[in-house]
This record gives sequence, structure tokens and C-alpha cells, in this order.
Amino acid sequence: MTEKNIILIGFMGCGKTSIGEQIAAKIQRNFIDMDCEIQRKAGMSINEIFENYSEQYFRKLERNYCKLIASTRCNIVSTGGGIIKDYSNIYNLKINGIIIYLKSTPEKIYRNIKYDDTRPLLNVENKMSAIKKLLYERSPMYEKYSDIIIDISSFKIDESAEYIINTLKRNEY
Ligand code: S3P
Repeated sequence: MTEKNIILIGFMGCGKTSIGEQIAAKIQRNFIDMDCEIQRKAGMSINEIFENYSEQYFRKLERNYCKLIASTRCNIVSTGGGIIKDYSNIYNLKINGIIIYLKSTPEKIYRNIKYDDTRPLLNVENKMSAIKKLLYERSPMYEKYSDIIIDISSFKIDESAEYIINTLKRNEY
């Protein structure tokens, strides 16, 4: 298996963290959740970073973390859904990584996050319409910036992890 980092990108709530953890366990690699690391370093939750500072400040922390990842190997990395908003992030993540887009539907995403209030961009009255709008805006970038696209909308977490590992092996990564 490749020594490059395996970078999971995709919309909020599509399952990047759970799937990443499973891949890491199955192929015995280190797992990094970028949002968790950013929160740990900042000593604040993402909601607090957005509220006390700004989204812009969060994006700066996110950019710095992508630079850090560029010099590592053999990690499974789950990114925040907004990683594609700045191409320099993708540039840095690609230096030593394979980017996999976990594609899902608004309906499945909504089911996953409907009771979750940890995502400032979705703390709005009509979550479903916010998901649809953002997903519509971001889909072209997720697709363009990824090396592999995997439609996980009909898979369970475990099946997605298995499918991704098999796809990497089949393509001799
Ligand atoms: C964001 C996604 C979140 C987190 C932040 C902003 C986004 O990560 O980074 O709330 O802009 O899509 P998840 O994709 O892990 O929810």
C-alpha cells in the first residue's frame, strides 16, 4: 500500500471521520482528524473559534495545518468540509497525498447531522436548504480536486472503508 497520506475530503457529515478511523484501523495507519487537531491546538471548539474569532481565523488555522500535513507520510487524514475553499490547501495536501472525495447526497448528509450543533455553518433554521446550497456550490471543487471519487451514499461506514481500501489496491496505489 502507498506510503502517501490518504486524504479524505467531502461535505460536512458525509462520514469522513468515521470512515477514516476504520481505514486506519484496517490497514494499521495513523489517523488524523484535522478539525480535532485544530480544536486541540486552539483549546476551543470550532463553534467557539467561529464565535470568538471568525471563520476567517479558522480558515487560517486550517491552512497552517495543511502545510504541516505536506511534510508527513502514511497517515489517513480526515479534513474539514471547507478545505476546498482555498486551493493552497489542496496544493499542500497533494504534495504527499492521494485525495479521495467521499461523495454523498443531501438527504444522507441531513440524516447524519440533523441533531448535531457542532457545525457553525449549519446552525441555521433550515439545515436541509443550507446543505443543498453549500453542496451545490462546493461539489465542482470536490470533484475537480480529488484523485479518486467514491460515491458512498448507499454504503455503510464499514463498507465504505473496505471499498476505499480495495480501490486503492486495485489502482496500485
Ligand atoms: C466546515 C466543516 C467542518 C468544520 C467547520 C467548517 C465547512 O468540518 O471544519 O465547521 O466549511 O464545511 P466537517 O466537514 O468535519 O464537519
